[in-house]
Amino acid sequence: MTIKIANTKSGTTISKYIYGHFAEHLGRCIYEGLYVGEDSPIPNKNGMRIDVVEALRNIQIPVLRWPGGCFADEYHWKDGLGPKEARKTMVNTHWGGVTENNHFGTHEFFELVKQLDCDAYVNGNVGSGTVQEMSEWVEYITMDGISPMADLRRENGHDSSWPMKFFGVGNENWGCGGNMRPEYYADLYRRYQTYVRQYGDQKIYKVAGGANVDDYHWTETLMKNAHWLMDGLSLHYYVHPQGWETKGSSLAFDEAEWFVTCEKAAFMDELITRHSAIMDQYDPEKRVGIIVDEWGTWFSAEPGTNPGFLYQQNTIRDAMVAAITLNIFHKHADRVHMANIAQTVNVLQAMILTDGEQMVKTPSYHVFDLYKVHQDAETIDSYGEQSEHITYTISKKEDTVHLSICNFDVTATESLSFSLESAIKEVKEARYIVGDVMNAHNDFDHPDTVTIQTFEDFQVAEEQLSVTVPPMSVLTISLSV
Ligand code: AHR
Repeated sequence: MTIKIANTKSGTTISKYIYGHFAEHLGRCIYEGLYVGEDSPIPNKNGMRIDVVEALRNIQIPVLRWPGGCFADEYHWKDGLGPKEARKTMVNTHWGGVTENNHFGTHEFFELVKQLDCDAYVNGNVGSGTVQEMSEWVEYITMDGISPMADLRRENGHDSSWPMKFFGVGNENWGCGGNMRPEYYADLYRRYQTYVRQYGDQKIYKVAGGANVDDYHWTETLMKNAHWLMDGLSLHYYVHPQGWETKGSSLAFDEAEWFVTCEKAAFMDELITRHSAIMDQYDPEKRVGIIVDEWGTWFSAEPGTNPGFLYQQNTIRDAMVAAITLNIFHKHADRVHMANIAQTVNVLQAMILTDGEQMVKTPSYHVFDLYKVHQDAETIDSYGEQSEHITYTISKKEDTVHLSICNFDVTATESLSFSLESAIKEVKEARYIVGDVMNAHNDFDHPDTVTIQTFEDFQVAEEQLSVTVPPMSVLTISLSV
């Protein structure tokens, strides 16, 4: 397969926010995964796990979405303030029916975001919350001067406001967020977002609750009735190889199911193309972003775990899904302004799994590590032959061209030849991950079964780069040009 690479940038920047993450009050994502509390024997800083924070900083997490998901539309933020022992409890009806003690609230979230050195994406409650409640939350977080909510924040020990870049007005309001029709939600969106006021200098990027998968009517209705009042419109899509009811196992699957999984991941391309085409009619300049704030694999919960906790293992197949999907987001970088894989720790397609004080990085984590070079880089145009099981991205930042390739074939090695417009001065770095079996994965006894290694199977001759890509692999080569 031969591909020509244009040396000029396309003019489209891959927003770093495409590499965003999502953390919900669900199973062991927040509690145990990110937050263990100040008194835990697990090493922590102000309650946040030091090992997990360090791992997430390494992949340059740009933004974290919180508190849900479905949880967001039954979360009442004032319950998560003040002395922890005195905080009101609630039942987490969506996720296992467990009692939520509200020990992780607004102050803890912004402490986490500070430690991660990333931006905050807070998701408000439309389904069971009032306009006043949402409006006051924004005031509590972002108001610096004298006001009832800013004063309340000070009483709770935080003097200055926090930077909040993104705010979501409800979640899945077609389902767990209120079972609404798009016409009704569009009106509610118009009303609720009015009171998401800007108190400081920072403009809040407002995200309207968008479609479930291919519900194009939802997108049409929201754009028609409210596009000028939103900055982003969300889209949720999960990959269930056996469909929503049975989903499929994260570890036990055959070759046919491997390819179904990869094909379902590739469906993201059609989804973005079609939703974007509708948005183009109302917003041809692409001012309103598609915010894919939930995506990833969703398998059956790991046997022996609480099914409501959505804990699943993560294999080299998940790494293929991550690479295929990120390559699609790059292709649509003019419309996709942010994406948040679900979910950061211990839930669905997690970056990290924990068990007590142990922590393991998943194959998906390593894809985010290999791909972080594309954050805020410009895409590079290329053309040439295509191969059925190859997907790739080429981007450029300053004088470095970054090439990432995913070969999701199970047995076939692919020989690829890339032809640049000028001579390659130097190969700065070449790294990859590879699976030896379809369900290769890391666990607490074998944390490095799938890990990043140096990649050596390439040749450079003048402007020509030849790469031999093994099956079930993801690689990134950085070239100085
Ligand atoms: O990520 C798990 C759940 O999936 C979220 O809470 C919800 O928004 C979606 O249905």
